[in-house]
Amino acid sequence: MPLNAEELFSERALGFKPSAIREQLKLIDTPEIISLSGGTPDDQFFPIDRVIEASTFALRQYGKKALQYGSTEGIKKLRVLLMDRMEKEGVNSIDLDNVIISTASQQGLSLLAQIFVNPGDTVIVEEPSYIGALQAFASMQAKFCTVPMDKDGMQMDILEDRLKELQKAHIRPKFVYTVPNFQNPVGVTMTLERRKKLIELANKYDLLIVEDDPYGEVRFEGEPIPSLLALGGKDHVVALRTFSKISFPGLRLGWIVARKDIMDKIVLGKQAADLCSPSLTQYIAYEFISRGWLDEYVAVVRREYLKKKNAMISALEQYFPAGASWTNPQGGLFVWVKAPEHIDTTAMFPEAISAKVAYVTGIAFYPHRDDNCHMRLSFSPVDPEHITEGVHRLGDLLKSKI
Ligand SMILES: Cc1ncc(COP(=O)(O)O)c(C=O)c1O
Repeated sequence: MPLNAEELFSERALGFKPSAIREQLKLIDTPEIISLSGGTPDDQFFPIDRVIEASTFALRQYGKKALQYGSTEGIKKLRVLLMDRMEKEGVNSIDLDNVIISTASQQGLSLLAQIFVNPGDTVIVEEPSYIGALQAFASMQAKFCTVPMDKDGMQMDILEDRLKELQKAHIRPKFVYTVPNFQNPVGVTMTLERRKKLIELANKYDLLIVEDDPYGEVRFEGEPIPSLLALGGKDHVVALRTFSKISFPGLRLGWIVARKDIMDKIVLGKQAADLCSPSLTQYIAYEFISRGWLDEYVAVVRREYLKKKNAMISALEQYFPAGASWTNPQGGLFVWVKAPEHIDTTAMFPEAISAKVAYVTGIAFYPHRDDNCHMRLSFSPVDPEHITEGVHRLGDLLKSKI
């Protein structure tokens, strides 16, 4: 008799839900569809020759070490380099013990969920929020307390109301999760004033903040704003960073900054998860950064993504119907669109696929799945000409429904 695995799955695993994005991506894997849905970097700018050179050098120089297991914390010279990089951004309260290399940010999210969340624990998240974080927290059976966003990021007055309500109910949230720069999916950035308020609330309510910042360096307009880690220090902030959007997700590398007591648990969690991140890609990353190539690459990404973002905003202005609205990000990969109120973007999705254009339905980013009129458009993986055509197709579809 075939084994019935259902009888063996943990309660946690039984609660796992497929990601709407991955399900939708399966439908659009055909070249005629203009996909404005994937949050992937544009691979036409990957500097393959430089990566070959860095990889060849890394193998010649560190060969045996590069092909061996490494320490759980990661390769020391890479961590030193990253610490220096963060110091230039105003993070000066950390030392090497506070930095660990992770298997990109998604692992950071899983590890934090693992070390902080018991079934039924509350975590505070932005609404809408990054779907992979919601999945990581939900996989540990977290409950979500949501705080809406506006054009300036998470709304601090509402966060404080939520904190008071939780306090009254004797519920201690495990952490507040935020993506302060060019948030996924909304594309907005938390203002300096709100960052300071968040740090103030963290002190007042003794809160831990998880600052997930994959997009901060992909700023193509405006001035950088100090990170929560720079403003508040490591006492109340754990920071997640990644190479995925500033270089290549194929490295599968990121880094976590945390105070020592939290770091000790992260190290143990990581040992159980994967022992260490790949030594080979850590050496490649080290060579790539230390030659100044990361900075040169980020400059190209900024220049090209600005063109793409401009193409998307112009096309939205030209082709979308009255009543639709959208964000205009100064960096990152995403524009968040509100369809005219009565249009259900989930119901419309199959029609968009028939019209050969794809987006991500807004509902995927709402933990309580209660919003149907938004869509996330990504400008990163598509060239400006196709962005214009894709937005044109979507605009026509929306107009046909009014
Ligand atoms: C906000 C945010 N955090 C984390 C990640 C995970 O990225 P990675 O695991 O490639 O570092 C993503 C990926 O899109 C993201 O948008």
